[in-house]
Amino acid sequence: MGEDLSASRLKRDAILLTAKVALVTGGGGGIGRGIALGLAEFGADVAILDIDGAAAEIVAGLVREKGRRALVIAADVSDRDAVRAGVALCVETLGRLDILVNNAGGTRPIKLLDMTDRQADRQIDLNLKNLVATTQAGASAMVAGGAGGAIINVASIEGFRAAPGYSVYAACKAGMINFTRTIALELSEHGIRINTIAPDLVPTEHMARFAPGIVSDAGKAAQAKYIPLGRAGNLDDCAGVAVFLASDMAAYVTGTTINVDGGTWASSGWTRDDAQGWKLFG
Ligand SMILES: NC(=O)c1ccc[n+]([C@@H]2O[C@H](COP(=O)([O-])OP(=O)(O)OC[C@H]3O[C@@H](n4cnc5c(N)ncnc54)[C@H](O)[C@@H]3O)[C@@H](O)[C@H]2O)c1
Repeated sequence: MGEDLSASRLKRDAILLTAKVALVTGGGGGIGRGIALGLAEFGADVAILDIDGAAAEIVAGLVREKGRRALVIAADVSDRDAVRAGVALCVETLGRLDILVNNAGGTRPIKLLDMTDRQADRQIDLNLKNLVATTQAGASAMVAGGAGGAIINVASIEGFRAAPGYSVYAACKAGMINFTRTIALELSEHGIRINTIAPDLVPTEHMARFAPGIVSDAGKAAQAKYIPLGRAGNLDDCAGVAVFLASDMAAYVTGTTINVDGGTWASSGWTRDDAQGWKLFG
């Protein structure tokens, strides 16, 4: 008999990550911390790989408060051997790896003509090069586990648009987006999905320290004008999409990018205007 096409087999449990193990790079702060806590909230045990071991310990404590197991891996994501050892420790301690979140990254603005070789290399190491070793180590652990998996890369809306002062960073994020497409094909035979999320502005504690204007009243007023949904993003906005992509709700989603940007990529130069509603390049 043929498949009953009128029946829905979707159950609400499909969003749960119960009995799954996740590893989040840069999980000690900012967006990574939000994603680590979001994954734990929906049932996953979480390994937090962060260069700041003390920050990772705090997040691990919060994961445990949710009744989930946590592991701290104090490591620099640019150190390939440390990343490989961290993934091995995760499997040894938490028993498996089902979800990998490649989140560690970031930059400071610097124009091309002012950039030193060292600054350029550091940006590439942190925002693109590490992706190869972490994805390879994480995917190998998933293949060995034999139960598939989900990889989520945190790119940026700068991977799509021009970004003066952020040329190398933006190029790395564009590279991450296309790396995701290719690896989706390579890993599909193992039941491993890989997707990217592309946030726009998400004020984190770190950002509020070095760019306080972003969280000032004037900053928020500007964000209300240029971001269609009227505000900057927050950690839960990113975590919600990461949980979706990690879960069976996204069982047929791979090789793609979800913009978590309040609509800024769609707006492409349109800004909110009190008199006219919206205007182009205002
Ligand atoms: N915040 C934003 O507005 C925004 C927007 C778009 C994309 N992103 C991307 O989101 C990701 C997270 O950014 P964020 O703003 O939350 O950063 P953040 O600086 O607030 O937090 C980064 C975390 O990563 C850790 N970390 C930094 N370097 C590391 C390294 N070499 N190895 C291991 N851990 C390291 C830090 O200790 C910290 O816990 C980055 O990839 C960034 O490019 C951020």
